[in-house]
Amino acid sequence: MRVAAIVVAAGTGERFGDRKQFCELAGQTAAARAVAASRSVADQVVLVAPADALTDAHGADLVVPGGATRSASVRAGLAAIDGDADVVVVHDAARPLASPGLFRSVLDALVVTPGAAGAVPGLPVTDTLKLLAPGEARLVAATLDRTSVVAVQTPQAFVAEVLRRAHAAGADATDDAALVEAIGGMVVVVDGEAKNRKVTTREDLDGLAAELDR
Ligand code: CTP
Ligand code: MG
Repeated sequence: MRVAAIVVAAGTGERFGDRKQFCELAGQTAAARAVAASRSVADQVVLVAPADALTDAHGADLVVPGGATRSASVRAGLAAIDGDADVVVVHDAARPLASPGLFRSVLDALVVTPGAAGAVPGLPVTDTLKLLAPGEARLVAATLDRTSVVAVQTPQAFVAEVLRRAHAAGADATDDAALVEAIGGMVVVVDGEAKNRKVTTREDLDGLAAELDR
């Protein structure tokens, strides 16, 4: 089985105020950490980076320019990976603390679950969830059952052919599993990791640095 990894690192980091994926955590960029963890399961690792940041591969085998949206950046990665990959693992460079064990876990779930097209890490939600009234940002319509939802992370593993089909129409979503679900693919959930938080703000990066110090 050939496994290719796509590490998406072509965002602008608007909420962070900088390209957070290239910020260092204990001396190593977030992108380099994401690439190294991907390497634990992948035969080939492709980094998708901003068009003006293609000279540093952060340890990847290949760097290619990304697109205007995360989904477009994943498609740039899909176009660049070897055609013979059976499985594609997609990971955010903004999640530098995903462990090699988590990569193994999504890959194993994909392989052992009959009919699975994808496997994603998910964590239980601890806050109470409210459904808003249609078109209302401040009016509660109902309380949701939080035991029936999970907060989903990357790395996400997919049957390569299904992921390519899911992206063929050029659609956008906040993760790749949503596009696979949209074409009827079965996606299974494995236990996510609490430390595998996405860096969105400066505070998030500080929090992960503190995590590494522990
Ligand atoms: N990403 C990408 N190409 C884009 C947008 C996002 O490769 N056009 C990547 C980011 O670099 C990040 C991951 O997708 O590793 C998750 O995106 P997000 O956390 O939203 O990062 P940014 O889009 O950079 O941040 P912001 O939304 O605050 O601008
Ligand atoms: Mg974004």
